[in-house]
Amino acid sequence: MKTTGRFSIAFAALALGVGVALAASGADAIKERRALMKENGEATKPVVAMLKGAPFELGAVQKALKTYESAAEKMPGLFPADSQTGDTHALPAVWTDTADFDARFKKLGADSSAALKSITDVASFKANMPAVFKNCGGCHEKFRTKDN
Ligand code: HEC
Repeated sequence: MKTTGRFSIAFAALALGVGVALAASGADAIKERRALMKENGEATKPVVAMLKGAPFELGAVQKALKTYESAAEKMPGLFPADSQTGDTHALPAVWTDTADFDARFKKLGADSSAALKSITDVASFKANMPAVFKNCGGCHEKFRTKDN
């Protein structure tokens, strides 16, 4: 199974590369976290449209929730001390109120997991999705500049 072997090596190298990059440079952490948040934003668009009346599509909702889950897990590790300045919209509070910041990601992850279970149709979607979105706006309000 040569192919499998090659794939594992590629994956290992990828994982290692990301780890090294994060340890080495704040600029890479900024790039990485902004890319993750951009993914959150992209996944959110169709879901917001559904809340506004576009046809309900469970698959897209679940995809968004899984995207949030995965981002919530990775994000707390992407704010090293040397990434406070540069091409970032993160506010200093991220580094002065880190416990609250990290707790909010934990909550986003937990709420997304719960919503993955509870959302099965339009009614449960409309009942449960807004609470998940509150996590986004609440954190941005305190930890992100308003200019993006
Ligand atoms: C616990 C805090 C927190 C939560 C929760 C959070 N974000 Fe963010 N988000 C941030 C921070 C901080 C930035 C700025 C990152 C930077 O510029 O370095 C950001 C940036 C963004 C951006 C701009 C990305 C770019 O292009 O630079 C988008 C879009 C975004 N978030 C969407 C979301 C969505 C959608 C959710 C909810 C599903 C969410 N965020 C939840 C903290 C959070």
